[in-house]
This record gives sequence, structure tokens and C-alpha cells, in this order.
Amino acid sequence: MLVSAKEMLTKAKEGHYAVGQFNINNLEWTKAILLTAEELHSPVILGVSEGAAKYMCGYRTVAAMTSAMVDSLGITVPVALHLDHGSYEGALACIEAGFSSVMFDGSHYPIAENIEKTKALVKLTGERGLSLEAEVGAIGGEEDGVIGAGECADPAECKMIADLGVTMLAAGIGNIHGKYPENWPGLSFETLEAISEKVGAMPLVLHGGTGIPGDMIRRAISLGVSKINVNTECQLAFAAATRAYIEAGKDQIGKGFDPRKLLAPGFEAIRATVKEKMELFGSVNRA
Ligand code: 13P
Repeated sequence: MLVSAKEMLTKAKEGHYAVGQFNINNLEWTKAILLTAEELHSPVILGVSEGAAKYMCGYRTVAAMTSAMVDSLGITVPVALHLDHGSYEGALACIEAGFSSVMFDGSHYPIAENIEKTKALVKLTGERGLSLEAEVGAIGGEEDGVIGAGECADPAECKMIADLGVTMLAAGIGNIHGKYPENWPGLSFETLEAISEKVGAMPLVLHGGTGIPGDMIRRAISLGVSKINVNTECQLAFAAATRAYIEAGKDQIGKGFDPRKLLAPGFEAIRATVKEKMELFGSVNRA
């Protein structure tokens, strides 16, 4: 069964560790992440962007595949299926489709509009026992080859959104989606401390988990981050392992072209990446 992320994140905040959100793209990704979480007795959040959901034939397909897989694999650890960076319409569609958690990213709206839309979703998700993530301060990232710097959130605005009753809050602290550029100044712990002070017990979310050094991750967790999102790192690991398999000519030996063989090294590489992150985040044996 898929669960809301509320309980696992409340426990993470109290226990000073973080739960990983790992984004899924297909069946292999989903299976690799679920099996690793079960093996490590770790709670887990499966993130789905609107683009990835479209690729996987829509929210209903994703929800059906994920819940059936949790069941068939006998997964006993808490699993939340979460919309990542959702639009308002996307969040409504996921609530109907059987997701157990949604993110509404209203960070590009003026704060009054972000508040108004987030408030409506607090009501809808609350009625159904689902968790809701909101965002303040844009997360940087690559767009058409240009890497935008992460914007730092205004702590006062964070408090306004947190007070609406969301489950978790993503606040920009200089983090960026994708690979970090050479000259990245690092996370703004000053901003994180100011936000933490304002929002109290609210679990904070760190996006752009790929490539953040371990010491910064540990410090962010000590300052109130309870959920960390990782996407690109699993993609890089999958691509490198698949490339090595093909470059070694293994697809040409026997039935090495069988997709179940061809995709196996990438699958194992995702498992290894997820394991490493769960150990770093401290969520192992917390299920
Ligand atoms: P990365 O792709 O940088 O790991 O970021 C993932 C993320 O924040 C998804 O919302």
C-alpha cells in the first residue's frame, strides 16, 4: 500500500535523518528503488515529474504500476508515491489518480497566488489523508544549456506557506537541479538556519541532491532538512553502466541483447546509488 509521506518525515525530523526521494522513469527504476529500500529497511519516496508521468503513459498508469509492484514484491517499508514539481492541475490529477503525496510548485507565482493555490490543495489533500509539499524560492538548474543559480527563499514567506498546514516545504538555499557547476558557491546554510528558525517542526526538503558533498548533506540534515531529492545521479549511473556493457560488446555475446540482460547493469547501478544515498541520509533501518 502507498502511504502519505507525513509520518515518515515527522519521524525523520525528530530522528535527525532524511528520507530520500528518488525519481522514477520506468519499471526498472521503480523496481530497483523499491527493492533497495526493502533490503535496507528504509522508508522511501518515489518522485514522478509531470514529464516522466507523461512518458510512462500518465498518472493512472504510474499509480497502478507502483501499487501493484509494492504488492507483488512484498514491500513492507513505507512507500509514498509523490508528484514532483507539480502544477496546480497536475496536483489535482494525481490526487484523483491514486498518488499518496503531491508537490505543488507555486514558486514562480507571486507569493499571494502561491499562498492561495497552496491553501486550496492543503484542503483537498487533507480531506484524503495525502501529504503535500509546497515550494518557496526557485531551485536553479539547466535550461537550454544555461545553468541558473538557485534563488534563496525568503524565510518570512516560508513561514507564511508553512502556516497553511502543508506537510513539507521545499525552500531554495542555493541548490540546483542536475550537475553542479565548478564555481558553485555551495548551499547557503545562513538561509537554511533562518528558515528553520521560522518554520520550527516543519520538515524541509532539499532538491537537487545530485552531487552535493556528504558534509553539506549532513549539515543540512542537522539544520532541519528531512527529505532529499535525487534524480540525475541515478540517470548518470544507469547510463554509465549501460554504456560499459555495450562498449564491452556484451550485447553481442549469446543472448546479451535480451532487454532483461541489457538493462541489468543499469538496474544494479541504480540500486548501488540509492543504497549509497540512503546510508548518507541516515534512513537505513528506520522503516
Ligand atoms: P537532481 O536531478 O539534481 O538530483 O535533483 C532532483 C530533484 O530535486 C527532483 O525534484
